[in-house]
Amino acid sequence: MRARFAAAGLVFVVAGAALPAQAPVGSFTADQAAAGRAAFDTTCVSCHGSGQAPPLQGAAFVGGWGSRSTRDLLTAVQAMPPDAPGGLPQATYLALTAFLLETNGAVPGTQPLTAATNVPIDRLFRAPAQAFPAGPPAGAADAAPASAAAVSN
Ligand code: HEC
Repeated sequence: MRARFAAAGLVFVVAGAALPAQAPVGSFTADQAAAGRAAFDTTCVSCHGSGQAPPLQGAAFVGGWGSRSTRDLLTAVQAMPPDAPGGLPQATYLALTAFLLETNGAVPGTQPLTAATNVPIDRLFRAPAQAFPAGPPAGAADAAPASAAAVSN
């Protein structure tokens, strides 16, 4: 009995080790990100775009989430909104997660984000310079259009 459990655990670990070999970009689609942007504007921006809650775009977000996975981010998104965690459809939570990845610089692809997607987020962000404000002065100008774009539409 115990040996059987151990064997099952081994298979799981081997399968998990294979995950990072997946494509580093394209872990969500542009359609998902667009749907997520719309949901963000109606459900999230009242707090996250007003200073009541931490901003979900920019260097602080990229720095804080770069070392974690898309599944960690999905879990955090599913805990929102605070007065009704888990209250939105799963497809909406996936779309919101895709939007947060895209708005922070990740590039969409053909593979949709699913609850099983578990890719390290720093492999999706294409501009590592964003994570550190100590870069060249030109980098500072990038932050404004990103947040302005998230508020419009
Ligand atoms: C009533 C205000 C409010 C609303 C609406 C809201 N949030 Fe939040 N959110 C917060 C607060 C406050 C925090 C920080 C404390 C915490 O993590 O619970 C937070 C934290 C988060 C985090 C973690 C941030 C980090 O860097 O750790 C994510 C991701 C997030 N919210 C996404 C969303 C999404 C997506 C929506 C829309 C479905 C949403 N929130 C709606 C108030 C809100």
